[in-house]
Amino acid sequence: MPKVFITGTAGFIGFHLAKELLSFGYEVVGFDGMTDYYDVELKRRRHAMLLQNPEFSAVEGRLEDFDLLRETALNAKPDVIVHLAAQAGVRYSLENPRSYIESNLVGTFNVMEVARELSVGHLLMASTSSVYGGNTEMPFDEKQRTDTPLTLYAATKKANEHMAHSYAHLWKIPTTMFRFFTVYGPYGRPDLALFKFVRAALAGEAIDVYNHGDMSRDFTYVGDLVRSIRLLIECPPEAAADPADIPEWDSLSPVAPFRTVNIGNGDCVKLLDFISETEKALGIPIRKNMMDMQQGDVPATWANSDVLFNLTGFRPNTPISKGVQDFVDWYREYYD
Ligand SMILES: NC(=O)c1ccc[n+]([C@@H]2O[C@H](COP(=O)([O-])OP(=O)(O)OC[C@H]3O[C@@H](n4cnc5c(N)ncnc54)[C@H](O)[C@@H]3O)[C@@H](O)[C@H]2O)c1
Repeated sequence: MPKVFITGTAGFIGFHLAKELLSFGYEVVGFDGMTDYYDVELKRRRHAMLLQNPEFSAVEGRLEDFDLLRETALNAKPDVIVHLAAQAGVRYSLENPRSYIESNLVGTFNVMEVARELSVGHLLMASTSSVYGGNTEMPFDEKQRTDTPLTLYAATKKANEHMAHSYAHLWKIPTTMFRFFTVYGPYGRPDLALFKFVRAALAGEAIDVYNHGDMSRDFTYVGDLVRSIRLLIECPPEAAADPADIPEWDSLSPVAPFRTVNIGNGDCVKLLDFISETEKALGIPIRKNMMDMQQGDVPATWANSDVLFNLTGFRPNTPISKGVQDFVDWYREYYD
């Protein structure tokens, strides 16, 4: 089994990915800076759970600390790197743009340098559906142009895709960039919608519903997402001998072992339907403050997941009724 170095293991997705890989017999080395963007106690609890498995070890540090990152990765000698640590969040990028430059640009560059020095067999990194920005043609597919980012968060992730493409080309690093679509599930992020809805509803408070509810998202259950990543680890891109041979469905670069892959459920769910599912799962109604659209937000996201399916034979398929219920059950147990 390959040894995997994962950045962001105390985060929502990194925690679930580490758990998934450990359950399939991989050895996992984690790296996380425990940033205070949200509740650090939740991050520590996630790490503590992972550390119960002897095949997991972790170092606490910032991506910007190149010496520590390099030393940790060189000691680990991983076959594969999955880079998930980032300053996430669309809305926070209006408040604290500098943190996106530091974590996402400088931090990702440092991870790429380590991948180059180690000549890893596969580098996989997180991008986002936000790179589709102002695109309106749905569903979004990987071959659409993504030249209209609406926030600095999206711009840093798009920059990461370009940075990674250049390293894949120059240093022949097989590289997969994931574009995640609104991930949700147990141990989720407190700044994301479902967490906020459930917390407010249980406290008897109203929730803010933006664009007067006229929004849709491709909500992706975290269990499906980490299964997709596990399967993609086994699909390192190979440079095309002749670009004319790249199949029509494939997003492989014509000049590098580099590919972008959407990971989404393939459903465009109306925000008000998602809120209704949350009310059903909680068994109580939720009061709503209807608000205008937020700056930098997009009205809809919807993934074409054919590239993922053609590579792995799998597409996310958990219905929101099940996923939301799982989250609510976890929330009640965790916070009671
Ligand atoms: N959750 C989603 O819906 C979603 C959607 C699209 C893309 N993504 C991307 O997926 C990745 C994982 O997201 P998540 O939801 O697990 O977020 P998260 O905030 O829960 O996890 C990120 C982790 O990275 C760590 N981190 C942040 N900056 C760091 C730095 N400079 N040095 C070291 N560690 C640092 C944090 O402490 C955190 O534990 C991110 O790259 C994010 O942009 C997430």
